[in-house]
Amino acid sequence: MEYFRKKSVKELVEQSTPLRRSMRTLDLTLLGIGAIIGTGIFVLTGKGALTAGPALSVSFVLAAVCCGFAGLCYAEFASMAPVSGSAYTYSYIAFGELVAFVIGWDLILEYALQAATVSAGWSGYFTKLLQGFGIDLPVQLTAAYGTTPGVTTYFNLPGFVVVLLITWLLSVGINQTRRANDIMVGVKLAVIVLFIVCVVWYVKPSNWQPFSPYGWYSFKQNSTVPMGIIPAASIVFFSFIGFDAVSSSAEETIEPRKTLPRGILLSLAVSTVLYIVMTLIMTGVVKYPEFSAFIDAPVAGVIVKTGMNWLALIVDFGALIGMTTVMLVQLYGQSRICYSMSRDGLFPKFFGEIHPKYRTPVKGTWFFGILTAIAGGFININVLFELVNIGTLSAFIIVAAGIIWMRHKHPEMQRGFKTPGVPFTPLIAIVFCGVLIAGLNWQTWVRFAVWFVLGLAVYFLYGARHSTMNKPSESAITAH
Ligand code: ALA
Repeated sequence: MEYFRKKSVKELVEQSTPLRRSMRTLDLTLLGIGAIIGTGIFVLTGKGALTAGPALSVSFVLAAVCCGFAGLCYAEFASMAPVSGSAYTYSYIAFGELVAFVIGWDLILEYALQAATVSAGWSGYFTKLLQGFGIDLPVQLTAAYGTTPGVTTYFNLPGFVVVLLITWLLSVGINQTRRANDIMVGVKLAVIVLFIVCVVWYVKPSNWQPFSPYGWYSFKQNSTVPMGIIPAASIVFFSFIGFDAVSSSAEETIEPRKTLPRGILLSLAVSTVLYIVMTLIMTGVVKYPEFSAFIDAPVAGVIVKTGMNWLALIVDFGALIGMTTVMLVQLYGQSRICYSMSRDGLFPKFFGEIHPKYRTPVKGTWFFGILTAIAGGFININVLFELVNIGTLSAFIIVAAGIIWMRHKHPEMQRGFKTPGVPFTPLIAIVFCGVLIAGLNWQTWVRFAVWFVLGLAVYFLYGARHSTMNKPSESAITAH
């Protein structure tokens, strides 16, 4: 059995579904922003501020630089292999089946748990919005067990319900249409700009002192939880995840070799600028230790501090819309990765079966939708997002290494976009990803290792035996 058999770009392109090409740079940028801006900025900034103090904005720069370098690598792959499947497909081309399976397995964790994390953030803002209308949900049912300090919670009911609703929408084929996405992204951006314009006047520069209370990396006495700029960057890295979703629309894009890289890099650039401005304002209005009082909805908390309750309602609403688009993109991406893996024989056919009426992989969508809803309902958001981050950082490392490998092995291949400064750019991406992985809790490394070993077991027991590449007529095998 050949664990490192590869797929060729040429045949992948030939095998891809003939979809209508209609996406341009602006659409892709909006798609990217739709997938990027969500729980990271609306929720995790609270934990980030407690971890790094006002230097949180530096953490955002660090995470952005990491994503920028990785984004350049994604862009080259996307321009070389303009087919769906993202890092899963890229690894199939560069490193072969085993690595592709591991990355696909990793992406399933990433997408499903991302949606679960965002559902927890969604729940926090939903609860706040209802409170604005005088409706109080039983607090025990608003978050997973032990999420909010000082409050006993058991289950994230609003998050559970919203994930099931989105799963239902996706399963009956109401995918995110371009127009609906553009409108929702417009609302999200407008709300952020409104926040910046209204709240900037309340900044007190004295709140930025001390700017970096925990330095780059340190531990509080008797604690194993890392503090400082690097650990906060490992947390807020979550805010940038999603730009890879742009590359999954390769088959629906006009001139993908040019448009994809532009969409990826532009959506990253816009998000970075907004994040840095927002975090400077947030830590300038509220002294960083006070973020512990509104850890589940820090942006709303900052607004309440200014006394502009009308703005809090608008921003809560915008945050909900924003997080909904993120969940839609993630659950959609998740079902499509599963579908690709099932089509390639690496996952059981069950996950890839297309419903005759809805033309969607209904069973796979529901299977993972229910698991995601349960994960978001019961598991602490802090456990969830750290796993997502480590999964994504690992995928970035593989993609960056893939660029170096492909330049070496296949210099002749046509590339619409070339990552500048190879091998240094991918190497820098790999180093930054390593630093951010180091900033996570050791418990996260262990959980990830368990998931990884489980993935290997599934590959050897199932994937390798059922791969369509075992039957050369069904697939493109290239000898390397
Ligand atoms: N970047 C996405 C968010 O912050 C995952 O919600």
